[in-house]
Amino acid sequence: MQKVKIELGANSYEICVGSGVLAQTGLWLKELGFSGRLVIITDTHVKKLHAGILEKELAGAGFDVTVLEIPAGEAQKTLKSAGKLYDELNEANAERITPILALGGGVTGDLAGFVAATYMRGVPYIQIPTTLLAMADSSIGGKTAVDRGRLKNVVGAFYQPKLVVADIEALKTLPAVEFANGMAEVIKHAAILDKEFFDYLDTNMEKAVALDAEIMEYIVLKNVQIKAGVVAVDEKETGLRAILNYGHTVGHAVEVLSGFRLKHGQAVAIGMVAEAKISQRLGILNSGDVDRLEKLIVKAGLPTRIPKTDIKKLMQVMMHDKKVRQGRLTFALLKSIGEAFITGDVDIAFVEEVLSGER
Ligand SMILES: NC(=O)c1ccc[n+]([C@@H]2O[C@H](COP(=O)([O-])OP(=O)(O)OC[C@H]3O[C@@H](n4cnc5c(N)ncnc54)[C@H](O)[C@@H]3O)[C@@H](O)[C@H]2O)c1
Ligand SMILES: [Zn+2]
Repeated sequence: MQKVKIELGANSYEICVGSGVLAQTGLWLKELGFSGRLVIITDTHVKKLHAGILEKELAGAGFDVTVLEIPAGEAQKTLKSAGKLYDELNEANAERITPILALGGGVTGDLAGFVAATYMRGVPYIQIPTTLLAMADSSIGGKTAVDRGRLKNVVGAFYQPKLVVADIEALKTLPAVEFANGMAEVIKHAAILDKEFFDYLDTNMEKAVALDAEIMEYIVLKNVQIKAGVVAVDEKETGLRAILNYGHTVGHAVEVLSGFRLKHGQAVAIGMVAEAKISQRLGILNSGDVDRLEKLIVKAGLPTRIPKTDIKKLMQVMMHDKKVRQGRLTFALLKSIGEAFITGDVDIAFVEEVLSGER
């Protein structure tokens, strides 16, 4: 087991990564000074698979546990679900000091985090991510939110957890497509900030996909360190954190145009390749690096090509999403594997031309 500290002054907290660490959550909560009542928020899938063990362990450590369940899926990330949870917290006599434990993927983490940030003006919250995406991305950084209609994450708050417990064992029950989904963000973190980690992924991707515990523990840990480093210098996303959008400008448009049939990670994988090609065509990234990136994405079981679609529509979605200044778009692009930069100076017609050639 390894611990990473997120340094945010009074909001600092630890992320514990390891196999079987779920069983130590009670002990760590006691060390943080918690006792008595606590509430687990989880979704239907994760409840069946993992909530029982956690509940038993916490009860054994002397906690009085209430489990609240939400149906699985993005459609639950709404104010309506938050409202229902507020009522259920009231019924469970949750108080200002009652911690909320978010057990599940990014949907549970974002929703339960938002509820924790707002219920009684903020109650303590603990993240127990069970998808690779949540371990590698959404549980780190303190962004919580719900969706509103077609607008994703528009209502939310920056709210840091008191503790994150990432148990690698939980990944054993995760469907392969969800695993690949999370791996897209892992590859992204390596591609923008850490060439050595990228090399490691390149060497070990087959073992990772086969869920080798040691390899997966290292991957999650390393990934947490990378994202933690970014968040520590830019908690509220004013500068450096924008490089985390690599692959997301094209990726998000591809995701929207697929009518969300493509998963976020799949769309980001396609976006990363497309944006690498934009950088290559600008004469910044060398073709060997584009090639390596594409091959690693394929090894992870992710797509690399924009599906048959109208590129004009894709451009429209992209321009609707992003600020366009004088016919120019802002991108997070790669300089090389392990190094990214932000540019507000990419010509729209040029992007359209590159994307047209890359289907
Ligand atoms: N807060 C942030 O910084 C941030 C960053 C990235 C993404 N997000 C958000 O994260 C969400 C996506 O997260 P996600 O991909 O984890 O989705 P998710 O929470 O919907 O989980 C995906 C599916 O896997 C199931 N599942 C979870 N853990 C499991 C396990 N161990 N075994 C079997 N099944 C399991 C879930 O029930 C669900 O059906 C989106 O809403 C996105 O906006 C937030
Ligand atoms: Zn993403």
